[in-house]
Amino acid sequence: MNDSTSVFYRKLNKQLPLIVRGQGVFLHDDTGKRYLDACGGAMVASVGHGVKEIADAIGAQAATLAYVNGTMFANRPIEELADELVDLSPPGIDRAYFLSSGSEAVEAALKLARQYHIERGEPQRHIVIARTPGYHGNTLLALSASARQHYRDLYEPWLVDVHMIPAPYPYRAGEHGERSSAMTGDALQEAIDELGPENVAAFIAEPIGGSSTGASVPPAPYYGRIREICDRSGILFIADEVLCGVGRTGKFFALEHYKDADGHAIAPDIITLGKGLNGGYVPLSAMLASSRVFEVMQRSPHGGLVHAQTYSHHPVAAAGGLATLRFIREHDLVRRAATVGAQLQSQLRSLANDGEGATLVGDVRGIGMLAGIELVADRATKRPFPRELKVAEQLVAAGLRHGVVLWPNTGHADGRNGDLILIAPPLTISESEIAELVKLVRESLADVARELAATAR
Ligand SMILES: Cc1ncc(COP(=O)(O)O)c(C=O)c1O
Repeated sequence: MNDSTSVFYRKLNKQLPLIVRGQGVFLHDDTGKRYLDACGGAMVASVGHGVKEIADAIGAQAATLAYVNGTMFANRPIEELADELVDLSPPGIDRAYFLSSGSEAVEAALKLARQYHIERGEPQRHIVIARTPGYHGNTLLALSASARQHYRDLYEPWLVDVHMIPAPYPYRAGEHGERSSAMTGDALQEAIDELGPENVAAFIAEPIGGSSTGASVPPAPYYGRIREICDRSGILFIADEVLCGVGRTGKFFALEHYKDADGHAIAPDIITLGKGLNGGYVPLSAMLASSRVFEVMQRSPHGGLVHAQTYSHHPVAAAGGLATLRFIREHDLVRRAATVGAQLQSQLRSLANDGEGATLVGDVRGIGMLAGIELVADRATKRPFPRELKVAEQLVAAGLRHGVVLWPNTGHADGRNGDLILIAPPLTISESEIAELVKLVRESLADVARELAATAR
Protein backbone atom coordinates (compact mmCIF):
# COMPACT_ATOMS: atom_id res chain seq x y z
CA MET A 1 0.00 0.00 0.00
CA ASN A 2 1.34 3.42 -0.92
CA ASP A 3 0.19 6.44 1.12
CA SER A 4 2.42 8.90 -0.71
CA THR A 5 0.01 9.36 -3.63
CA SER A 6 -3.15 11.38 -4.24
CA VAL A 7 -4.36 8.92 -6.88
CA PHE A 8 -7.36 6.73 -6.09
CA TYR A 9 -5.80 3.73 -7.87
CA ARG A 10 -7.79 0.76 -9.16
CA LYS A 11 -5.85 -1.58 -6.89
CA LEU A 12 -5.37 -0.35 -3.33
CA ASN A 13 -3.85 -3.51 -1.92
CA LYS A 14 -0.60 -3.45 -3.87
CA GLN A 15 2.08 -1.11 -5.11
CA LEU A 16 1.86 -0.74 -8.90
CA PRO A 17 5.09 -0.34 -10.90
CA LEU A 18 5.41 3.18 -12.37
CA ILE A 19 5.63 2.84 -16.16
CA VAL A 20 7.32 5.79 -17.81
CA ARG A 21 7.69 4.71 -21.45
CA GLY A 22 6.43 2.23 -24.01
CA GLN A 23 8.15 1.20 -27.21
CA GLY A 24 7.05 -1.62 -29.53
CA VAL A 25 6.04 -4.61 -27.37
CA PHE A 26 7.94 -3.34 -24.33
CA LEU A 27 7.04 -1.18 -21.34
CA HIS A 28 9.76 0.41 -19.18
CA ASP A 29 9.36 1.38 -15.52
CA ASP A 30 11.07 4.13 -13.51
CA THR A 31 13.69 1.69 -12.17
CA GLY A 32 14.78 0.71 -15.69
CA LYS A 33 13.02 -2.67 -15.64
CA ARG A 34 11.59 -3.84 -18.98
CA TYR A 35 8.29 -5.74 -19.38
CA LEU A 36 7.16 -7.61 -22.50
CA ASP A 37 3.52 -6.54 -22.88
CA ALA A 38 2.11 -9.95 -23.78
CA CYS A 39 -1.50 -8.83 -23.35
CA GLY A 40 -1.30 -5.34 -24.86
CA GLY A 41 -2.46 -3.82 -21.55
CA ALA A 42 -6.02 -5.15 -21.70
CA MET A 43 -5.87 -6.58 -25.25
CA VAL A 44 -5.65 -2.96 -26.43
CA ALA A 45 -2.15 -2.21 -27.77
CA SER A 46 -2.72 -3.60 -31.28
CA VAL A 47 0.02 -1.65 -33.07
CA GLY A 48 2.56 -1.53 -30.25
CA HIS A 49 3.65 1.31 -28.03
CA GLY A 50 5.30 4.56 -29.06
CA VAL A 51 4.14 4.81 -32.70
CA LYS A 52 5.13 8.35 -33.58
CA GLU A 53 2.86 8.81 -36.61
CA ILE A 54 -0.22 8.03 -34.48
CA ALA A 55 0.90 10.47 -31.77
CA ASP A 56 1.53 13.10 -34.48
CA ALA A 57 -1.90 12.60 -36.06
CA ILE A 58 -3.57 13.04 -32.64
CA GLY A 59 -1.51 16.16 -31.91
CA ALA A 60 -2.25 17.68 -35.32
CA GLN A 61 -5.99 17.12 -34.93
CA ALA A 62 -5.99 18.55 -31.37
CA ALA A 63 -4.27 21.67 -32.70
CA THR A 64 -6.73 21.99 -35.63
CA LEU A 65 -10.01 21.14 -33.91
CA ALA A 66 -10.11 19.47 -30.50
CA TYR A 67 -13.84 19.27 -29.81
CA VAL A 68 -17.28 19.98 -31.16
CA ASN A 69 -20.49 18.56 -29.80
CA GLY A 70 -21.89 15.66 -31.80
CA THR A 71 -25.46 17.03 -31.69
CA MET A 72 -24.48 20.33 -33.29
CA PHE A 73 -21.61 19.80 -35.70
CA ALA A 74 -20.11 17.26 -38.07
CA ASN A 75 -16.33 16.88 -38.27
CA ARG A 76 -13.96 15.42 -40.86
CA PRO A 77 -12.16 12.70 -38.83
CA ILE A 78 -15.42 10.93 -37.91
CA GLU A 79 -16.57 11.11 -41.55
CA GLU A 80 -13.33 9.50 -42.74
CA LEU A 81 -13.19 6.90 -39.97
CA ALA A 82 -16.83 5.89 -40.59
CA ASP A 83 -16.09 5.47 -44.33
CA GLU A 84 -13.08 3.27 -43.57
CA LEU A 85 -14.94 1.08 -41.09
CA VAL A 86 -17.96 0.66 -43.36
CA ASP A 87 -15.64 -0.34 -46.24
CA LEU A 88 -14.11 -3.04 -44.04
CA SER A 89 -17.47 -4.26 -42.68
CA PRO A 90 -19.57 -7.27 -43.67
CA PRO A 91 -22.31 -6.59 -46.25
CA GLY A 92 -25.20 -4.51 -44.97
CA ILE A 93 -23.29 -2.60 -42.28
CA ASP A 94 -23.23 1.01 -43.38
CA ARG A 95 -23.14 3.45 -40.44
CA ALA A 96 -20.73 4.08 -37.55
CA TYR A 97 -21.48 5.82 -34.23
CA PHE A 98 -18.46 6.77 -32.10
CA LEU A 99 -17.98 6.61 -28.33
CA SER A 100 -15.05 6.33 -25.91
CA SER A 101 -15.10 2.84 -24.34
CA GLY A 102 -16.25 -0.67 -25.12
CA SER A 103 -18.86 -0.51 -22.35
CA GLU A 104 -20.32 2.66 -23.88
CA ALA A 105 -20.49 1.05 -27.32
CA VAL A 106 -22.32 -1.94 -25.82
CA GLU A 107 -24.75 0.32 -23.91
CA ALA A 108 -25.47 2.20 -27.14
CA ALA A 109 -25.89 -1.04 -29.11
CA LEU A 110 -28.41 -2.46 -26.62
CA LYS A 111 -30.33 0.82 -26.49
CA LEU A 112 -30.34 0.93 -30.29
CA ALA A 113 -31.82 -2.58 -30.41
CA ARG A 114 -34.58 -1.55 -28.00
CA GLN A 115 -35.39 1.71 -29.80
CA TYR A 116 -35.35 -0.03 -33.21
CA HIS A 117 -38.12 -2.39 -32.10
CA ILE A 118 -40.14 0.44 -30.56
CA GLU A 119 -39.92 2.52 -33.76
CA ARG A 120 -41.05 -0.54 -35.74
CA GLY A 121 -44.13 -0.86 -33.59
CA GLU A 122 -43.04 -3.77 -31.40
CA PRO A 123 -42.53 -2.03 -28.05
CA GLN A 124 -42.91 -5.27 -26.10
CA ARG A 125 -39.52 -6.47 -27.39
CA HIS A 126 -37.18 -5.69 -24.52
CA ILE A 127 -35.41 -8.91 -23.52
CA VAL A 128 -31.71 -9.22 -24.19
CA ILE A 129 -30.10 -12.65 -24.41
CA ALA A 130 -26.37 -12.99 -23.66
CA ARG A 131 -24.02 -15.88 -22.88
CA THR A 132 -22.30 -17.26 -19.83
CA PRO A 133 -19.34 -17.07 -19.52
CA GLY A 134 -19.25 -13.75 -21.34
CA TYR A 135 -18.26 -10.14 -20.82
CA HIS A 136 -19.53 -6.94 -22.39
CA GLY A 137 -18.42 -4.18 -20.02
CA ASN A 138 -18.88 -2.60 -16.64
CA THR A 139 -21.49 0.14 -16.93
CA LEU A 140 -24.75 -1.15 -15.50
CA LEU A 141 -26.50 -2.29 -18.68
CA ALA A 142 -23.31 -3.79 -20.13
CA LEU A 143 -22.61 -5.45 -16.76
CA SER A 144 -26.17 -6.82 -16.72
CA ALA A 145 -25.30 -8.57 -20.00
CA SER A 146 -22.04 -9.88 -18.53
CA ALA A 147 -21.76 -13.17 -16.69
CA ARG A 148 -18.87 -12.16 -14.47
CA GLN A 149 -20.12 -12.78 -10.97
CA HIS A 150 -17.36 -11.09 -8.98
CA TYR A 151 -17.99 -7.83 -10.86
CA ARG A 152 -21.76 -8.17 -10.39
CA ASP A 153 -22.07 -9.21 -6.73
CA LEU A 154 -22.11 -5.75 -5.08
CA TYR A 155 -24.40 -4.19 -7.67
CA GLU A 156 -26.86 -7.02 -8.20
CA PRO A 157 -29.90 -4.96 -7.00
CA TRP A 158 -29.18 -2.38 -9.72
CA LEU A 159 -28.72 -4.77 -12.62
CA VAL A 160 -31.47 -5.46 -15.14
CA ASP A 161 -32.59 -8.93 -16.08
CA VAL A 162 -30.65 -10.30 -19.06
CA HIS A 163 -31.36 -13.88 -20.05
CA MET A 164 -28.22 -16.02 -20.12
CA ILE A 165 -27.56 -19.05 -22.31
CA PRO A 166 -24.42 -21.21 -22.10
CA ALA A 167 -21.52 -20.03 -24.28
CA PRO A 168 -19.85 -22.46 -26.67
CA TYR A 169 -16.78 -23.49 -24.70
CA PRO A 170 -15.06 -26.42 -26.44
CA TYR A 171 -12.73 -27.32 -23.52
CA ARG A 172 -15.68 -27.62 -21.12
CA ALA A 173 -18.40 -28.70 -23.55
CA GLY A 174 -19.12 -31.82 -21.48
CA GLU A 175 -20.08 -35.31 -22.61
CA HIS A 176 -22.14 -34.16 -25.65
CA GLY A 177 -19.24 -32.05 -26.98
CA GLU A 178 -20.01 -30.46 -30.36
CA ARG A 179 -23.58 -31.80 -30.21
CA SER A 180 -24.47 -29.93 -27.00
CA SER A 181 -26.98 -27.11 -27.43
CA ALA A 182 -24.37 -24.58 -26.26
CA MET A 183 -22.05 -25.64 -29.08
CA THR A 184 -24.65 -25.93 -31.87
CA GLY A 185 -26.42 -22.68 -30.99
CA ASP A 186 -29.69 -24.48 -30.24
CA ALA A 187 -29.49 -23.05 -26.70
CA LEU A 188 -30.51 -19.71 -28.25
CA GLN A 189 -33.59 -21.23 -29.92
CA GLU A 190 -34.58 -22.93 -26.65
CA ALA A 191 -34.31 -19.61 -24.77
CA ILE A 192 -36.35 -17.77 -27.41
CA ASP A 193 -39.08 -20.45 -27.29
CA GLU A 194 -39.20 -20.09 -23.50
CA LEU A 195 -39.25 -16.27 -23.47
CA GLY A 196 -41.53 -15.84 -26.49
CA PRO A 197 -39.88 -14.50 -29.66
CA GLU A 198 -42.19 -11.48 -29.63
CA ASN A 199 -40.54 -10.30 -26.38
CA VAL A 200 -36.89 -10.63 -27.38
CA ALA A 201 -35.00 -7.59 -28.69
CA ALA A 202 -31.43 -8.79 -29.17
CA PHE A 203 -28.81 -11.48 -28.76
CA ILE A 204 -25.31 -10.26 -27.92
CA ALA A 205 -22.16 -12.39 -28.16
CA GLU A 206 -18.39 -12.11 -28.55
CA PRO A 207 -17.80 -13.92 -31.89
CA ILE A 208 -14.53 -15.38 -30.57
CA GLY A 209 -14.26 -15.59 -26.81
CA GLY A 210 -12.35 -12.87 -25.02
CA SER A 211 -11.19 -12.95 -21.45
CA SER A 212 -14.29 -14.79 -20.15
CA THR A 213 -13.78 -18.01 -22.08
CA GLY A 214 -10.06 -17.45 -22.67
CA ALA A 215 -10.02 -17.21 -26.47
CA SER A 216 -12.43 -20.10 -27.01
CA VAL A 217 -13.30 -20.52 -30.68
CA PRO A 218 -16.91 -21.65 -31.33
CA PRO A 219 -17.43 -24.47 -33.89
CA ALA A 220 -17.66 -23.56 -37.60
CA PRO A 221 -21.46 -23.92 -38.01
CA TYR A 222 -22.29 -21.92 -34.85
CA TYR A 223 -22.83 -18.39 -36.20
CA GLY A 224 -24.68 -19.55 -39.32
CA ARG A 225 -27.17 -21.14 -36.95
CA ILE A 226 -27.29 -18.02 -34.74
CA ARG A 227 -28.01 -15.78 -37.74
CA GLU A 228 -30.76 -18.12 -38.93
CA ILE A 229 -32.39 -18.26 -35.46
CA CYS A 230 -32.27 -14.47 -35.03
CA ASP A 231 -33.69 -13.87 -38.52
CA ARG A 232 -36.53 -16.31 -38.00
CA SER A 233 -37.61 -14.51 -34.82
CA GLY A 234 -36.89 -10.89 -35.83
CA ILE A 235 -34.18 -10.59 -33.18
CA LEU A 236 -31.13 -8.36 -33.68
CA PHE A 237 -27.74 -10.06 -33.53
CA ILE A 238 -25.11 -7.85 -31.88
CA ALA A 239 -21.51 -8.98 -32.45
CA ASP A 240 -19.37 -7.60 -29.64
CA GLU A 241 -15.97 -7.31 -31.34
CA VAL A 242 -14.54 -4.93 -28.72
CA LEU A 243 -11.81 -7.42 -27.85
CA CYS A 244 -11.63 -9.80 -30.82
CA GLY A 245 -12.08 -7.24 -33.61
CA VAL A 246 -9.71 -5.02 -35.61
CA GLY A 247 -7.44 -7.78 -36.81
CA ARG A 248 -6.61 -9.48 -33.52
CA THR A 249 -7.71 -12.95 -34.71
CA GLY A 250 -6.21 -12.69 -38.21
CA LYS A 251 -9.36 -11.24 -39.85
CA PHE A 252 -10.46 -7.64 -39.42
CA PHE A 253 -13.70 -8.85 -37.77
CA ALA A 254 -13.55 -12.16 -35.88
CA LEU A 255 -16.97 -13.07 -37.32
CA GLU A 256 -15.31 -13.28 -40.77
CA HIS A 257 -13.94 -16.67 -39.70
CA TYR A 258 -17.52 -17.98 -40.03
CA LYS A 259 -19.77 -18.55 -43.07
CA ASP A 260 -23.42 -19.54 -43.38
CA ALA A 261 -24.52 -22.87 -44.87
CA ASP A 262 -24.30 -21.38 -48.42
CA GLY A 263 -20.76 -20.13 -47.82
CA HIS A 264 -21.82 -16.47 -47.46
CA ALA A 265 -20.42 -14.00 -44.95
CA ILE A 266 -22.44 -13.64 -41.76
CA ALA A 267 -23.60 -10.09 -41.22
CA PRO A 268 -24.61 -9.04 -37.74
CA ASP A 269 -27.14 -6.21 -37.29
CA ILE A 270 -24.88 -4.25 -34.95
CA ILE A 271 -21.14 -4.53 -34.25
CA THR A 272 -19.24 -3.00 -31.35
CA LEU A 273 -15.53 -2.16 -31.55
CA GLY A 274 -13.08 -0.68 -29.05
CA LYS A 275 -9.65 -1.61 -27.64
CA GLY A 276 -7.53 -2.30 -30.78
CA LEU A 277 -9.46 0.31 -32.79
CA ASN A 278 -7.32 3.02 -31.24
CA GLY A 279 -4.40 0.83 -30.16
CA GLY A 280 -4.52 2.53 -26.74
CA TYR A 281 -3.57 5.98 -28.03
CA VAL A 282 -6.93 7.66 -27.32
CA PRO A 283 -10.17 6.37 -25.78
CA LEU A 284 -12.29 5.37 -28.80
CA SER A 285 -15.01 2.84 -29.49
CA ALA A 286 -17.55 2.40 -32.25
CA MET A 287 -20.99 0.97 -32.78
CA LEU A 288 -21.64 -0.05 -36.37
CA ALA A 289 -25.22 -0.48 -37.58
CA SER A 290 -26.78 -2.17 -40.58
CA SER A 291 -28.78 -0.20 -43.12
CA ARG A 292 -31.87 -2.18 -42.05
CA VAL A 293 -31.56 -0.85 -38.49
CA PHE A 294 -30.41 2.61 -39.55
CA GLU A 295 -33.32 3.16 -41.95
CA VAL A 296 -35.79 2.59 -39.12
CA MET A 297 -33.87 5.05 -36.93
CA GLN A 298 -33.91 7.66 -39.70
CA ARG A 299 -37.70 7.74 -39.44
CA SER A 300 -37.63 8.05 -35.64
CA PRO A 301 -39.78 10.85 -34.21
CA HIS A 302 -36.92 11.33 -31.72
CA GLY A 303 -34.57 12.37 -34.53
CA GLY A 304 -32.08 9.58 -33.87
CA LEU A 305 -30.84 7.28 -31.12
CA VAL A 306 -31.95 8.52 -27.71
CA HIS A 307 -28.52 8.44 -26.11
CA ALA A 308 -26.15 11.25 -25.13
CA GLN A 309 -22.47 11.35 -24.25
CA THR A 310 -20.37 14.52 -24.25
CA TYR A 311 -17.37 12.83 -25.85
CA SER A 312 -19.15 10.87 -28.57
CA HIS A 313 -18.09 11.53 -32.19
CA HIS A 314 -14.86 13.12 -30.92
CA PRO A 315 -12.54 14.47 -33.65
CA VAL A 316 -9.25 13.81 -31.83
CA ALA A 317 -10.26 10.27 -30.88
CA ALA A 318 -11.33 9.63 -34.49
CA ALA A 319 -8.01 10.98 -35.78
CA GLY A 320 -6.25 8.50 -33.46
CA GLY A 321 -8.44 5.68 -34.79
CA LEU A 322 -7.77 6.68 -38.40
CA ALA A 323 -4.01 6.76 -37.82
CA THR A 324 -4.22 3.34 -36.11
CA LEU A 325 -6.16 1.83 -39.03
CA ARG A 326 -3.67 3.38 -41.47
CA PHE A 327 -0.78 1.81 -39.55
CA ILE A 328 -2.55 -1.58 -39.53
CA ARG A 329 -3.11 -1.36 -43.30
CA GLU A 330 0.38 -0.10 -44.18
CA HIS A 331 2.06 -2.83 -42.13
CA ASP A 332 -0.37 -5.55 -43.28
CA LEU A 333 -1.04 -6.37 -39.63
CA VAL A 334 -4.28 -8.31 -40.10
CA ARG A 335 -2.51 -10.85 -42.34
CA ARG A 336 0.45 -10.78 -39.94
CA ALA A 337 -1.88 -11.62 -37.05
CA ALA A 338 -2.88 -14.76 -38.98
CA THR A 339 0.58 -15.86 -40.10
CA VAL A 340 2.84 -14.83 -37.21
CA GLY A 341 -0.13 -15.53 -34.90
CA ALA A 342 -0.02 -19.18 -36.01
CA GLN A 343 3.57 -19.37 -34.76
CA LEU A 344 2.54 -17.77 -31.47
CA GLN A 345 -0.23 -20.37 -31.09
CA SER A 346 2.00 -23.36 -31.81
CA GLN A 347 4.79 -22.18 -29.50
CA LEU A 348 2.30 -21.49 -26.69
CA ARG A 349 0.89 -25.01 -27.09
CA SER A 350 4.33 -26.36 -26.17
CA LEU A 351 3.76 -24.99 -22.65
CA ALA A 352 1.42 -27.92 -21.99
CA ASN A 353 4.18 -30.41 -22.84
CA ASP A 354 7.43 -29.27 -21.33
CA GLY A 355 8.69 -27.30 -18.37
CA GLU A 356 8.08 -27.61 -14.67
CA GLY A 357 4.75 -25.78 -14.96
CA ALA A 358 3.33 -27.96 -17.78
CA THR A 359 1.20 -29.97 -15.33
CA LEU A 360 -0.83 -26.83 -14.55
CA VAL A 361 -1.76 -26.27 -18.19
CA GLY A 362 -5.14 -27.82 -18.98
CA ASP A 363 -5.59 -26.22 -22.38
CA VAL A 364 -3.94 -23.75 -24.75
CA ARG A 365 -6.27 -22.36 -27.43
CA GLY A 366 -7.04 -19.40 -29.59
CA ILE A 367 -6.56 -18.00 -33.04
CA GLY A 368 -4.25 -15.40 -34.54
CA MET A 369 -2.80 -13.11 -31.89
CA LEU A 370 -5.39 -14.06 -29.27
CA ALA A 371 -4.60 -17.04 -27.04
CA GLY A 372 -5.87 -18.42 -23.75
CA ILE A 373 -4.09 -20.71 -21.31
CA GLU A 374 -6.42 -22.50 -18.90
CA LEU A 375 -4.87 -23.69 -15.63
CA VAL A 376 -6.29 -26.73 -13.87
CA ALA A 377 -5.62 -28.73 -10.72
CA ASP A 378 -6.12 -32.02 -12.61
CA ARG A 379 -5.55 -32.32 -16.35
CA ALA A 380 -7.45 -35.60 -16.68
CA THR A 381 -10.68 -34.38 -15.06
CA LYS A 382 -10.21 -30.65 -15.90
CA ARG A 383 -10.91 -29.91 -12.23
CA PRO A 384 -10.20 -26.23 -11.56
CA PHE A 385 -8.12 -24.98 -8.66
CA PRO A 386 -10.09 -23.75 -5.65
CA ARG A 387 -10.50 -19.99 -6.00
CA GLU A 388 -8.79 -19.40 -2.63
CA LEU A 389 -5.45 -20.37 -4.21
CA LYS A 390 -5.70 -17.45 -6.66
CA VAL A 391 -3.64 -19.32 -9.24
CA ALA A 392 -4.26 -16.89 -12.14
CA GLU A 393 -3.23 -13.97 -9.91
CA GLN A 394 -0.11 -15.88 -8.82
CA LEU A 395 0.83 -16.41 -12.46
CA VAL A 396 0.37 -12.73 -13.30
CA ALA A 397 2.56 -11.78 -10.30
CA ALA A 398 5.22 -14.29 -11.36
CA GLY A 399 5.03 -12.87 -14.90
CA LEU A 400 5.69 -9.34 -13.65
CA ARG A 401 8.69 -10.60 -11.68
CA HIS A 402 10.03 -12.22 -14.85
CA GLY A 403 9.20 -9.16 -16.98
CA VAL A 404 6.11 -10.30 -18.92
CA VAL A 405 2.62 -8.80 -18.60
CA LEU A 406 -0.23 -11.36 -18.63
CA TRP A 407 -4.00 -10.88 -18.35
CA PRO A 408 -5.84 -13.02 -15.76
CA ASN A 409 -9.43 -14.19 -15.72
CA THR A 410 -11.22 -16.27 -13.14
CA GLY A 411 -14.58 -17.91 -12.56
CA HIS A 412 -15.19 -19.40 -16.03
CA ALA A 413 -15.24 -23.07 -14.89
CA ASP A 414 -18.33 -22.82 -12.68
CA GLY A 415 -19.03 -19.11 -12.02
CA ARG A 416 -16.53 -18.97 -9.14
CA ASN A 417 -13.58 -21.26 -9.81
CA GLY A 418 -11.42 -21.31 -12.91
CA ASP A 419 -8.08 -19.71 -13.72
CA LEU A 420 -6.85 -18.62 -17.09
CA ILE A 421 -4.58 -16.09 -18.65
CA LEU A 422 -4.96 -14.34 -21.95
CA ILE A 423 -2.08 -13.63 -24.31
CA ALA A 424 -2.74 -10.85 -26.85
CA PRO A 425 0.47 -9.05 -27.77
CA PRO A 426 0.72 -6.17 -30.23
CA LEU A 427 0.17 -7.50 -33.78
CA THR A 428 3.64 -6.15 -34.58
CA ILE A 429 5.42 -8.65 -32.30
CA SER A 430 8.48 -10.20 -33.99
CA GLU A 431 9.34 -13.90 -34.12
CA SER A 432 12.21 -13.48 -31.65
CA GLU A 433 9.93 -11.55 -29.28
CA ILE A 434 7.42 -14.43 -29.48
CA ALA A 435 10.19 -16.83 -28.45
CA GLU A 436 11.04 -14.54 -25.52
CA LEU A 437 7.35 -14.25 -24.55
CA VAL A 438 6.92 -18.05 -24.46
CA LYS A 439 10.15 -18.50 -22.47
CA LEU A 440 9.02 -15.93 -19.88
CA VAL A 441 5.57 -17.54 -19.56
CA ARG A 442 7.25 -20.96 -19.14
CA GLU A 443 9.46 -19.60 -16.35
CA SER A 444 6.48 -17.93 -14.68
CA LEU A 445 4.45 -21.16 -14.83
CA ALA A 446 7.36 -23.04 -13.25
CA ASP A 447 7.40 -20.50 -10.37
CA VAL A 448 3.69 -21.03 -9.75
CA ALA A 449 4.07 -24.83 -9.87
CA ARG A 450 6.80 -24.56 -7.22
CA GLU A 451 4.72 -22.18 -5.06
CA LEU A 452 1.70 -24.51 -5.26
CA ALA A 453 3.84 -27.53 -4.36
CA ALA A 454 5.25 -25.62 -1.36
CA THR A 455 1.74 -24.64 -0.20
CA ALA A 456 0.54 -28.25 -0.49
CA ARG A 457 3.39 -29.56 1.71
C1 LIG B 1 -15.91 -8.18 -25.36
C2 LIG B 1 -15.87 -6.93 -24.56
N1 LIG B 1 -16.87 -6.04 -24.66
C3 LIG B 1 -16.87 -4.90 -23.96
C4 LIG B 1 -15.84 -4.58 -23.12
C5 LIG B 1 -15.85 -3.30 -22.33
O1 LIG B 1 -14.89 -2.43 -22.82
P1 LIG B 1 -14.31 -1.26 -21.90
O2 LIG B 1 -13.53 -1.88 -20.81
O3 LIG B 1 -13.47 -0.45 -22.86
O4 LIG B 1 -15.47 -0.47 -21.39
C6 LIG B 1 -14.76 -5.47 -22.97
C7 LIG B 1 -13.66 -5.17 -22.05
O5 LIG B 1 -12.85 -5.99 -21.70
C8 LIG B 1 -14.78 -6.68 -23.71
O6 LIG B 1 -13.79 -7.57 -23.60
